[in-house]
Amino acid sequence: MSLSREQMLVEMGISPIWVLRSPVLAGPADELLQHEEQTAVPSISLEDEQPAPPSANATNPVSQVPIGEVGSLDWPALAKRVAECRACSLCEQRKQAVLGVGDTSPEYLFIGEGPGADEDAKGEPFVGQAGKLLDSMLASLDIARGNRVYIANAVKCRPPGNRTPEASEMAACWPYLERQIALLKPKIIVLLGKAAVHAVLHDDKSLASLRGKRFDYAGVPVVVTYHPAYLLRNLPDKAKAWEDLLFARRTLREQMAPELPF
Ligand code: URA
Ligand code: SF4
Repeated sequence: MSLSREQMLVEMGISPIWVLRSPVLAGPADELLQHEEQTAVPSISLEDEQPAPPSANATNPVSQVPIGEVGSLDWPALAKRVAECRACSLCEQRKQAVLGVGDTSPEYLFIGEGPGADEDAKGEPFVGQAGKLLDSMLASLDIARGNRVYIANAVKCRPPGNRTPEASEMAACWPYLERQIALLKPKIIVLLGKAAVHAVLHDDKSLASLRGKRFDYAGVPVVVTYHPAYLLRNLPDKAKAWEDLLFARRTLREQMAPELPF
């Protein structure tokens, strides 16, 4: 399938702009739109929670030592290790670690940054406002969490105040993501935002310069797009994200059936 830019914008429900509120639009792009309407005011929760009382972890301090061998763990053992992990200071204020969610034999692996307040409370990635937009993005590809998709984060514990995780925290948490990728064997990895790009590709270039290119992680194609939380604040870039998703789907199809002309 080859869509013109105009068709892509229409599918995203953002061109022409006055079409945005048209009731005739239906389907995934419309869900993106509805979500946008509900979140006209930037809605990323930035409020922080009360820090945990200093005594809470007195008997279980941050270890600050690298995580031991996780390369041989199966899913239950990995989940237990992550739940108990104290390898970086993000463990101190988390309610719970958030491993990931979805199909464990997926085509797509989406990787975000780290849990926010909603994810920290629920134990599942992308369940807040950004998650609703991510679900709409998935729907635009005719996929859904749990069906051909797994969703994970660069760090498993919520950075206080939703700050960007530090490089040292992403490095500390990397063995878990590395093991998840090895277990999942996705056909394509979609990196959502700069933190995920840093964690997986070790690249700090601008997203604009990385979009639309195919990278490789351990033989798995990797593509890059904007983080949904960024898109909630930057409506025009949704069109670019839509282009990126189409590129991801094309790349996936090439990967799965390189002999077929798509
Ligand atoms: N943002 C992320 O990067 N990950 C989540 O799980 C939620 C919001
Ligand atoms: Fe462990 Fe990762 Fe949580 Fe840090 S963020 S405590 S490395 S699970």
